[in-house]
Amino acid sequence: MIRFLTGGESHGEGLIGIIEGFPSNVYFDIEYINKELNRRQVGYGRSNRMDMEQDEIKVLSGINKGYTTGNPISLIIKNRGTNIDLVEITKPRPGHGDLAGTLKYNHKGARNVVERASARETAMRVAVGSVCKLLLKKFEIKVYSHVIKIGDIEVSMKYKDEKELETANNSSVRVIDKDTEELIIKKIKQAKKEEDTLGGVVEVIGKNIPVGLGSYTNWDRKLDAKIAHSIMSIPGIKGIEFGLGFEASNRLGSQMHDEIFYDLNGFYRKTNNAGGIEAGVSNGEDIVFRAVMKPIPTLRKSLKTVDIDTKEDVIAQFERSDVCAVPSVCIVAESMLAYVLANEMVSKFGGDSIEEIKSSFSNYMSDLKNR
Ligand SMILES: Cc1cc2nc3c(=O)[nH]c(=O)nc-3n(C[C@H](O)[C@H](O)[C@H](O)COP(=O)(O)O)c2cc1C
Repeated sequence: MIRFLTGGESHGEGLIGIIEGFPSNVYFDIEYINKELNRRQVGYGRSNRMDMEQDEIKVLSGINKGYTTGNPISLIIKNRGTNIDLVEITKPRPGHGDLAGTLKYNHKGARNVVERASARETAMRVAVGSVCKLLLKKFEIKVYSHVIKIGDIEVSMKYKDEKELETANNSSVRVIDKDTEELIIKKIKQAKKEEDTLGGVVEVIGKNIPVGLGSYTNWDRKLDAKIAHSIMSIPGIKGIEFGLGFEASNRLGSQMHDEIFYDLNGFYRKTNNAGGIEAGVSNGEDIVFRAVMKPIPTLRKSLKTVDIDTKEDVIAQFERSDVCAVPSVCIVAESMLAYVLANEMVSKFGGDSIEEIKSSFSNYMSDLKNR
């Protein structure tokens, strides 16, 4: 089993991550990991803190001569904004963990909460996710994401293929449809002018997924439940739907379920309304889910709150903040999916080295061909 933990605060020395249970002999491509970190940082609507950060990974353990050793992998991303004079926060922001966190940990103000609850931590998740993507590449499993909605502007196009999904990487708001891009940028500009913020919806797609990841045998083994947990843990995410999702409630059973066919290549479906998972098990189709991000809770346009010290009605604290982080959340969601899938691959195909996992994987896949 692969597991990871992160530590670190927004304005502390940096972020650390430890990945444990990762197989040996996987090429550790630092350049690729840094590129992934950069994908999280760019995107129209983010604050100018992004110019300052330019994240880079440093490796402390678990790698020798460019390959994973099977030892715990320890990573560091240094913060660049450490010299900021950190004032206490007594005017908690609605929509953040400021008030509940201050009360729960018995702090004088929300500074300690803000430092850790902030989405800065998601940089390390992207680093961990990119290490997991290196493992998935060995099995040609790929993870894509694109923005399908920001505010009330929705992309009308459905993606057709991987080439089209790749084009999201060329868009500052990660859409595959150029017409919508302009409308979304306008929307973000307008929100900024009005000192407000925006949320949206992202779609994440896992390609080339083998049948049989996850399990129906117990609640905590179900693949959709594991993915939902990992995605719901991303700051700002308020919901997830697989395949047709909530639209399923409008359908009859006959219009919903993906009928099963068979040809020389094996079993297949003509539709994928289930989003690639049935009964908590991957069914060989693409894994497809959408996640909704609420509007950023730090607003220039002041929201009402109560001072923790004086109990007076005041206006919430403002700190430099994004207007919209939906394009970035795509990359964090890709990373969490990559982690869940890598973990499932290691659990199902076992082994301590990539060679052992690959051999068990190819046996399984050739057995499937004979079914
Ligand atoms: C990539 C990313 C960037 C974010 N940037 C900000 C930000 O600049 N300001 C802010 O108030 N919230 C930001 N958020 C959202 C908050 O971190 C989140 O809403 C907050 O921690 C409360 O958690 P909850 O929304 O899950 O309840 C960001 C989230 C992500 C994933």
